Amino acid sequence: MVKIDKFERPIISLRISITNRCNVKCFYCHHDGIIPQKYEMTPEEIMRISQVAKNIGIIKIRLSGGEPLIRKDIIDIVNSISKIGFTDVSITTNGILLEEYAQPLKDAGLDRINVSFDTLNPETYRFITKSDYVNQVKRGIEKAVEVGLYPVKVNMVVMRGLNHEEIWDMFHFCKETGAVLQLIELLKTENCPDEDFFDDYYYDMSIIEKKLLEKADNVKTRRFMQDRKKYYLEGGEIEVVKPMDNTEFCKNCTRLRITPEGKLKPCLLRNDNLVDLMEPIRRGVSDEYLESLFVEAITNREPYYAGC
Ligand code: GTP
Ligand code: 5AD
Repeated sequence: MVKIDKFERPIISLRISITNRCNVKCFYCHHDGIIPQKYEMTPEEIMRISQVAKNIGIIKIRLSGGEPLIRKDIIDIVNSISKIGFTDVSITTNGILLEEYAQPLKDAGLDRINVSFDTLNPETYRFITKSDYVNQVKRGIEKAVEVGLYPVKVNMVVMRGLNHEEIWDMFHFCKETGAVLQLIELLKTENCPDEDFFDDYYYDMSIIEKKLLEKADNVKTRRFMQDRKKYYLEGGEIEVVKPMDNTEFCKNCTRLRITPEGKLKPCLLRNDNLVDLMEPIRRGVSDEYLESLFVEAITNREPYYAGC
């Protein structure tokens, strides 16, 4: 039932961007690989796509944005998706509205949540997001752990000279809260500000990985999740997302994406192989036809960093 692409990668995970609106403006944001223009699908369209995804062997769904929690119908969306029977339903959020939404999301059947949170320092946070929500996001993370979403991951994009010296503070905050720290290498995408931005802030994650390896009691590899490494140390856990120039990352990528305007997107870093689902859905095509469009997107899948 699971579809396999030409590079022998099983396609088991779907990431649906349910809005491209956001309540902050992070200067590095890759907009989930999507050109910023306002789009949202209806809850029925999101449901239909999720059901078809299930039919072709997808087992994991992640809702992302923009900021997914700014949709007024987010609880209804999670409620209906969680009834389809995926093994894992999750959300990536900036955490600003999480304190209020954690419990209703849990009640609606959400399994887990990732929170984008790069710094505990209010000035650095303001520089990155142009806003002042540090304490609000911290409370949101604590609440998510408290209501039993598991795991709660904190996504920290590591940037040279901005927050790279805060990694251990973030690790201790996460450990005390019961969250997992996920360190993310800064990505250069078409939507990023300019060349200087990347040269100014890119931080080589191998420096950190070397330190983590020295300190870790145990290291695991997430084989079906882009070959990411998980380090266990001091009673806590750190995961490293290292997609830049990394052929192993692409080789072990099992994910498809849906853009907010309803296009299948086989790779975060490419925009030249999208497959539109919205026009056919609005034309009233069958589930079998939509399944064939998924197969087309899977057939189009090429690793961005080749070598596999
Ligand atoms: P889990 O670890 O299973 O919770 O999923 P995740 O870490 O992929 O989800 P999240 O939304 O937290 O994304 C974390 C980071 O992974 C983001 O910063 C992205 O830059 C990176 N990422 C996510 N999906 C892709 C992808 O399809 N391709 C690449 N190259 N990077 C991705
Ligand atoms: N590089 C790396 N990660 C990024 N994110 C957004 N833009 C970038 C980028 N240029 C991260 C956010 C969020 C996740 C979905 O993507 O911090 O946690």
